Amino acid sequence: MKNEVMEERVQEDERKRMEIIHKTKRSSVDDRYNPVSGGGAHRMSQLRESFIREMTRLAITHKAINLSQGFPDFDPPREVIEAAHQALDAGGNQYTITWGVPALRQAIAAKMNKWYNLAFDPDEHITVTCGVTEAILATMMSNVNPGDEVIIIEPFHEGYLPAVIFAGGTPRFVPLDSPGYTLDLDKLRAAFNERTRIILINTPHNPTGHVFTRNELEGIAKLCIEFNVIAVTDEIYEHILYDDHRHLPIAAIPGMADRTVTISGFGKTFALTGWRLGYACALNPLSLGIRTVHDFTTICAPAPLQAACTAALNLPDAYYEQLRSDYAARRTVIMSILSKAGLVAEPPEGSYYVMADFSQWDFDGDDHSFARWLPAHLGVAVVPGSVFYGTKGMGKKTVRFAFAKKMETLIAAGERLCGEAG
Ligand SMILES: Cc1ncc(COP(=O)(O)O)c(C=O)c1O
Repeated sequence: MKNEVMEERVQEDERKRMEIIHKTKRSSVDDRYNPVSGGGAHRMSQLRESFIREMTRLAITHKAINLSQGFPDFDPPREVIEAAHQALDAGGNQYTITWGVPALRQAIAAKMNKWYNLAFDPDEHITVTCGVTEAILATMMSNVNPGDEVIIIEPFHEGYLPAVIFAGGTPRFVPLDSPGYTLDLDKLRAAFNERTRIILINTPHNPTGHVFTRNELEGIAKLCIEFNVIAVTDEIYEHILYDDHRHLPIAAIPGMADRTVTISGFGKTFALTGWRLGYACALNPLSLGIRTVHDFTTICAPAPLQAACTAALNLPDAYYEQLRSDYAARRTVIMSILSKAGLVAEPPEGSYYVMADFSQWDFDGDDHSFARWLPAHLGVAVVPGSVFYGTKGMGKKTVRFAFAKKMETLIAAGERLCGEAG
């Protein structure tokens, strides 16, 4: 589609969305979750479309460099693309076994064993899903009853709250503290009670880059065991780590194996977010519940892409070493750009995001107005910080930068933000 046509469509789309928001505004509901009400399901009054993906549309409108949504602007490994082509040609184009093709489940089991010493039976404990998003939703749908509380550590990825709400649960937010975005275990303890059903953890963390320490994970585990709570862990950035940070799945902590759902995906590690491939690893009965929801929501993940992701898991260790060193170089560049631009940020320990404070800029407005102003005036798109919080008023002076980009993209963004090469 030509750029101008695309732009017109995006603008029209945005105009219509704003019209709906205005028509349905109800003062009793928090603005962020307000746009759809009226005749729809009650749960919709607590939800709105993704801000992150809205920022991508805004980037297209303004032809801005898109550092908002977390996807790479480079290709997956060549071997993986070729494996997808081969799978298409080889006739693997029909439904697969609903839990995923056996070779992929076996490769996931082998990977969990090799990297983390975790034992999962591919026949029973692994479910291949349409992305991490589906795996989280299936876990919530199969474990949460109305009135159950789900602890979400904030800031958090935008997809978590809808998953809890779809399942009829009540979110309970516990903050990461600055500096360092660390978890205060006393604050966490205060959030646990007899209604707590699940705690949702994400390490390495989006949007802060925090990698949960052994001490933090052991603290969470202790509470899960004491209160009989399930840990659901989103480890989608498990291979994107900086310096000497190491990834530790909470399932590996003693006492946690049978009360943890370990979720990860292929999108970030192999730069194929549009393929929609993820997986959930859990012992029974947790696995059974996830499989049942998955069975009746998406049936199976895309068949030829499952074959290609099997090839991805067979890449040598050198792939992961290169991944880390490439991301380390990108992190150095983005941190230098932010510092030159007067945007204050702590370097991430993992993942490919950085939260930056724009208080030093002569800008009279909050994170939302800043994130709308930036692509329009400087040609760089970001995400408003407050969309990652459930507690009102948080993140109002921050925006999130995603730096899974080619070096030239980051340097071009640096020129726009600083007026010189980043
Ligand atoms: C922490 C986290 N979880 C889940 C997702 C979505 O994963 P998927 O695309 O596999 O559904 C993202 C995407 O940015 C993410 O950052």
